[in-house]
Amino acid sequence: MKTLNIPSNAPYSTTQQAWLNGFFAGMHRRILQNSGAEPSSDIRVLNILYGTQTGTSESVAEDAATLAKAQGLKPIIQSMDEVDANELVAMEYLLIITSTYGEGEMPDNAQILWDAVKEDNAQNLDNTHYSVLALGDTGYDLFCQAGIDWDNRLEKLGAKRLYNRVDCDVDYEDPAEAWIAAVIPLMAEGAATVVDVETPIKEKAKFNRKNPFPATMTLNKILTSEASSKETRHYEISIADSGLSYEAGDALCVIPTNCPELVDAVINAIGCDEEEIVDDVTLREHLTSDLEIKLPNKELLQVISEKAKDPTLRELLDSGDKDKLSDYLWGRDTLDCLLQNPDVMFSAPEFIALLKPLQHRAYSISSSGKMHPNSVHLTIASVRYEAQNRAHKGVCSTYLADIVNESTEVKIFFTPNKSFRVPEDNSLPIIMVGPGTGIAPFRAFLQERNFRKATGKNWLFFGDRNAKTDFIYEDELNTMQENGILNRLDLAFSRDQEEKIYVQDKMRENGAELFAWLEQGGYFFVCGDAYRMAKDVDKALHELIAEQGHKSTDEAIDYVNQLKKEKRYVRDVY
Ligand SMILES: Cc1cc2nc3c(=O)[nH]c(=O)nc-3n(C[C@H](O)[C@H](O)[C@H](O)COP(=O)(O)OP(=O)(O)OC[C@H]3O[C@@H](n4cnc5c(N)ncnc54)[C@H](O)[C@@H]3O)c2cc1C
Ligand SMILES: NC(=O)c1ccc[n+]([C@@H]2O[C@H](COP(=O)([O-])OP(=O)(O)OC[C@H]3O[C@@H](n4cnc5c(N)ncnc54)[C@H](OP(=O)(O)O)[C@@H]3O)[C@@H](O)[C@H]2O)c1
Ligand SMILES: Cc1cc2nc3c(=O)[nH]c(=O)nc-3n(C[C@H](O)[C@H](O)[C@H](O)COP(=O)(O)O)c2cc1C
Repeated sequence: MKTLNIPSNAPYSTTQQAWLNGFFAGMHRRILQNSGAEPSSDIRVLNILYGTQTGTSESVAEDAATLAKAQGLKPIIQSMDEVDANELVAMEYLLIITSTYGEGEMPDNAQILWDAVKEDNAQNLDNTHYSVLALGDTGYDLFCQAGIDWDNRLEKLGAKRLYNRVDCDVDYEDPAEAWIAAVIPLMAEGAATVVDVETPIKEKAKFNRKNPFPATMTLNKILTSEASSKETRHYEISIADSGLSYEAGDALCVIPTNCPELVDAVINAIGCDEEEIVDDVTLREHLTSDLEIKLPNKELLQVISEKAKDPTLRELLDSGDKDKLSDYLWGRDTLDCLLQNPDVMFSAPEFIALLKPLQHRAYSISSSGKMHPNSVHLTIASVRYEAQNRAHKGVCSTYLADIVNESTEVKIFFTPNKSFRVPEDNSLPIIMVGPGTGIAPFRAFLQERNFRKATGKNWLFFGDRNAKTDFIYEDELNTMQENGILNRLDLAFSRDQEEKIYVQDKMRENGAELFAWLEQGGYFFVCGDAYRMAKDVDKALHELIAEQGHKSTDEAIDYVNQLKKEKRYVRDVY
């Protein structure tokens, strides 16, 4: 059994630590705690608020709630958009668990509460005791910024920090567990709680990031035509006999290996022997399976710039101008940076120590688990581009396209996204905006609605570059229209005419009907590019609500916020 790294200031005896190790290993047991007090109806409430985009924070919140319950607290888990600022004031014991999205921004379901809390006239939180767990990724400039913002703001509003914020990188599991183990007893301290609880401990997923399922790919089919400027593929991966299942809206994570030619080129560039053993493994094996060798990280760049005679990189890093640096790095990979500085050499251990672990990539599943219980479908744009006079390939998208076949295994695990779901009420209309690979979860949603024989209307906005070459799943969508499953399909092919036409233009053109669907209780889903498309679609949504609903800008914002609170406006954007 794995041993937890519980922080030294956590109030645990050795026995308690042993129990916690069992707890986090997912064991079921009856917990008897007796603090000497009588059972009380005023068990201390612990509010656990999560901000999430893809479900991880919610899952950590559930783990925290399970331990809280076991320790005699009454946990209440809510997404941040279920709470308003007045309710926050009444929360005496509070855990905030949030990821960061965009460029250091709040995840969607934390935005409304955050906007209220950051107001100058936000109410004081003198009675609140809190701690923050921040989820993020050090690959982004503003690491864990949303959690940092919450932590600072709560302190500024007078809340008392009971335990220091923990910032988690992609390997979030151990630090998150340690934070939970440390913070829950602090939240319970002094509470009149006697517990005799049959604790419903959450089953840990059988397969996860650390123990992925070795699956088989059964189909790899190109969807875009040969003449296309893009390459988008449809994959089917078998999960038969795995005991795994998934819901429409979930993501599948794939753990790739690096392209063998890139590994060769990198080894050549650093001037090492591929067979050199480092920590019992050859350099080649490290660079193939364990380490990120495509996306350059800042530590490596720093060392290259220090060793290099060419000062361009050093000046860029020293300038602190993030935009300039990311412009320079756009399209450049680690090999480009090495080739640009051919005199820079590394020993194998030195180079390995400078690289980050090779991470999985997430993909929105494009099939319904009810219709396809034995397989998972994915819709993936292969990342291939020319830069610095050489061909570049995205690690995972081309690993699936070029390396995996029916006789190799592909390591996968699921990440559930409970927020991104087909509505339970089958009679409600749904509007789906998914250009490019953004169509993936909506193919799953349509299959799901078909499977459920849902009577609610379905409307898809889809688009890509050219109709002739990039209208992926055209036949399926036509069939769904003929069968009455897809009631409306609006298409925006951006490069078929001089002026760009995007999905939001089609939304505007159909504003009256779109607003009518929302008024009927409709759901509005968006999937695809987070940085341009999702922002512009959001703007168009606000504008058409204002226009069609005869509302002021502020009233339109309120309307959209209400949709978000009711989980009728949700996004799966990347
Ligand atoms: C929740 C979620 C769901 C997702 N669902 C899908 C999905 O359904 N389908 C899908 O295709 N993707 C999806 N993605 C994106 C996916 O996870 C990967 O990011 C994507 O496949 C690229 O990974 P890669 O390993 O192939 O490329 P990487 O090795 O990660 O390389 C990508 C990098 O290459 C560079 N780059 C890319 N294109 C260019 C270019 N034209 N010019 C210069 N530089 C460039 C950029 O630096 C970019 O960051 C999703 C992401 C998330 C978070
Ligand atoms: N991390 C990665 O490496 C990676 C890999 C794959 C995808 N992604 C992200 O995921 C996105 C989706 O990729 P994709 O291949 O599915 O689609 P995509 O190539 O980004 O674009 C699909 C369609 O959306 C259009 N579009 C561009 N800007 C838009 C805007 N502001 N509003 C609305 N539509 C817009 C495109 O038009 P034009 O191109 O003609 O302008 C195209 O017609 C990518 O843009 C990227 O941000 C990232
Ligand atoms: C499009 C996108 C943008 C992100 N931006 C940031 C960021 O600016 N800073 C950061 O630390 N992490 C960033 N992340 C990483 C997420 O915060 C991290 O994956 C987190 O574990 C997701 O948790 P969730 O599933 O609860 O949303 C980003 C992830 C994606 C997909």
